[in-house]
Amino acid sequence: MAYSFQLYVVCAFAAIGGFCFGYDSGVISGVLTMPSFIAKMTNGGDHLAAIQTSVITGLLLAGCFVGSLFAAPLCEMLSRKYTIILASGVFILGAAIQTGTNGYGMMLGGRFVAGLGVGSLSMACPLYLSELAPKEIRGRLISLQQLMITIGLMIAFWCGAGTNLHMTNEAAWRIPLGIQIIPAAILFCGIPFLPFSPRWLISKGRKEEALAVLARLNANGDKTNPKVVAEYEEIVAQVEHERAVSVNSYVELFKGTILRRIILGICIQIFQQFTGINSIMYYAPTIFQQAGIQQQSASLIASGVNGVLNVLATIPAILFLDRLGRRFVLISGATFMGCAMLLAGIVMAATGRVYYDAVKDEMAVDMSGNTHASYFCIVMIYFFVAGFAYSWGPVGWVYPAEIFPLSVRAKGTSLTTAANWLMNFIISLFVPVMLTTITWGTYIFFGCCCIVMSVCVFLFYPETKGRSLEEMDLVFSGNIIVYKDAKEAARRFRDAQQAEKAEHAEEAKEAV
Ligand code: BGC
Repeated sequence: MAYSFQLYVVCAFAAIGGFCFGYDSGVISGVLTMPSFIAKMTNGGDHLAAIQTSVITGLLLAGCFVGSLFAAPLCEMLSRKYTIILASGVFILGAAIQTGTNGYGMMLGGRFVAGLGVGSLSMACPLYLSELAPKEIRGRLISLQQLMITIGLMIAFWCGAGTNLHMTNEAAWRIPLGIQIIPAAILFCGIPFLPFSPRWLISKGRKEEALAVLARLNANGDKTNPKVVAEYEEIVAQVEHERAVSVNSYVELFKGTILRRIILGICIQIFQQFTGINSIMYYAPTIFQQAGIQQQSASLIASGVNGVLNVLATIPAILFLDRLGRRFVLISGATFMGCAMLLAGIVMAATGRVYYDAVKDEMAVDMSGNTHASYFCIVMIYFFVAGFAYSWGPVGWVYPAEIFPLSVRAKGTSLTTAANWLMNFIISLFVPVMLTTITWGTYIFFGCCCIVMSVCVFLFYPETKGRSLEEMDLVFSGNIIVYKDAKEAARRFRDAQQAEKAEHAEEAKEAV
């Protein structure tokens, strides 16, 4: 089936929520180092205490955690679409408070409010995308949100670097903080023109509207198109089945195969953070300095390149995730990242000099004596980021958004998303401590985590590519240890694809 241009436009537009997520997470690291910002936060002081830095960074994550939990009832009652509008409104408010801040207290308030918005968006956008997407390209369409996250992170970095270089007054940080209002305002104004999720419409008994949306997005408005009718009927049957067998409550999440999906969904989000990606994203300059780039400007450029690489390496996921499958991408990605992290850690341990920096009262690594080894470590860090970008970055959001039945989908994704933010918060607190105590051990730790994750996916995570959201009950009712079923499932998928191709060829012949 050829997918309509409109479907891609609608999904790309909704994915702007990811841009706000990436930009707001990324903008702060540059802002925190700007002298005029530090002066504003400390009433004329010249440095921020470590606790102030942590609180400014961490309050966004705390807000995200709360926001992702609150978004579930809103998505159910108000709809996915209105939740996105509300969340972007809250985000605009938070961003405006940060931009116009008159000091530390107001900044903290702005960070928390923006976090409420980002957290809700990070839960509602993938959910909305998963429910609009046809099963054959669902991975691709949800991955658009990750692409937007990486673009947001990259633009935030370069904006901060640019204003820092050319301005010394408060505009240097107010401009990058203010810029985030623009995409959020575009989202806020544009979402009313997008359709409601057809699945949400059916769950509310608005069947005619749902059929119209499915037809508009998938068959240029043709409500009699066989694929549209089949998808519509499948959703209606599933909604009726769920109404008959379940109640729509949090208790449902802890029963039968839904409990299994909750555990897998929460773990995939926790694992995503345990890859160590944010140790690189948040602390890249420190890491590049430890790996041997001594000058401040060079390490900033190294972080900038990192941001560009993160965007570029996400593109293969958009192109191939639905062909390669979630399992292959997750297992290969974790193995690749694990090897890169372990090699970086081992080479640092073998060639670097670990010493005590008395001025900062912390441990550090000096790799300046060995240029080759130091470049090798930097390349390994780039490999790691590319490995994350094509695999756990997108699939960490795709998988939880597609595994739950409609009656508890909003609640399920809200819990899994909250787990991501909680872990993000914890890791962001611990990484600076790890880097300045166990130094190269940080890379060995995250490398080992990645290897454990690839084994867990191999053993426990069923393949979901090509299955409709309504078929997930079947996918998750098989063996808990899935690797034995995986080959068989891949064979069945291949057969189904071949049968579908043959059917299309037949239809084309008949049409001629
Ligand atoms: C993660 C973020 C991370 C970003 C990096 C996202 O999928 O959830 O924590 O900063 O990817 O690209």
